[in-house]
Amino acid sequence: MLEIKDAVAVITGGAMGIGKCVAKFWVENGGKVVLGDMAQDALVETKAELEALGGKVATVVCNVTKEEDCAALADTAIEQFGQINLVAPFAGIIKDAMMLSPDKETGKVTRKMTLEQFKLVIEINLTGVFLTVRECAERMINENCRGLICLVSSTGSLGTAGQINYASSKAAMSVMPKVITAEFFRRGLANRLRCVAIAPGYVATPMVKGMDQKALDKILADVPIGRLVEPEEVAQLVGDIYRNEAMAGEVYFIHGGLRLGSRG
Ligand SMILES: NC(=O)c1ccc[n+]([C@@H]2O[C@H](COP(=O)([O-])OP(=O)(O)OC[C@H]3O[C@@H](n4cnc5c(N)ncnc54)[C@H](O)[C@@H]3O)[C@@H](O)[C@H]2O)c1
Repeated sequence: MLEIKDAVAVITGGAMGIGKCVAKFWVENGGKVVLGDMAQDALVETKAELEALGGKVATVVCNVTKEEDCAALADTAIEQFGQINLVAPFAGIIKDAMMLSPDKETGKVTRKMTLEQFKLVIEINLTGVFLTVRECAERMINENCRGLICLVSSTGSLGTAGQINYASSKAAMSVMPKVITAEFFRRGLANRLRCVAIAPGYVATPMVKGMDQKALDKILADVPIGRLVEPEEVAQLVGDIYRNEAMAGEVYFIHGGLRLGSRG
């Protein structure tokens, strides 16, 4: 079992939502955090909150789609804390739209998901994760670190209407742990470096809680536990997987029993 105490977590999207919650969980358990996010003000606020809890916190304003920003993030962790033990590349966005929307009356297509909508989600949710993981894992190998790369997929990876961009990016998160674990195994690193993905359902972050009641009720009608998953429950799962070194190469769902599958 690995200990969180004194372990160093690099978390992108760490200023808000699930990333922030993982950061809080990590410092409450005695770990140190390096938070990367584009949202500068939120990053300052989160740092202050975590330091008030006694946490050791470094922050880097970064755009995960930029190679040099991801390198700077990983370097900061090594320079300030000497190691990286958890990589949580949780920065992500949605830009939902149906790929094609025909007009109800004419039956002719009047709207399409734009190329920008498609590319931006892939750029942040997929390319951004690749860059964050590559830069952090390079330093984990070179500095002889032990730990976990924990990606975030989603139940959306199974195919949700209106999310061809997001679902595709999250489906990629389901295969990456297998690729990375196989590569680490081939290079004799898999006994100290693991990679997994967690796949949450609907989590009670501001984005989801801000939905109108009708949309929320529709979602909850499909969730057997009858409520949203709390971000603290997701953070707990990340901690459990980190500690348990038998957990590797797999995708772990956390969705309250959500009835899965595509919806029309
Ligand atoms: N909330 C859910 O229900 C849910 C469910 C499944 C998966 N997820 C995934 O969990 C992750 C976190 O989601 P969340 O709900 O906490 O979202 P959130 O919007 O609350 O937080 C995302 C964070 O990422 C940051 N970010 C966005 N683009 C960035 C970029 N290019 N570079 C650096 N930082 C950037 C934002 O500033 C923000 O702080 C995402 O990958 C999301 O897809 C969320």
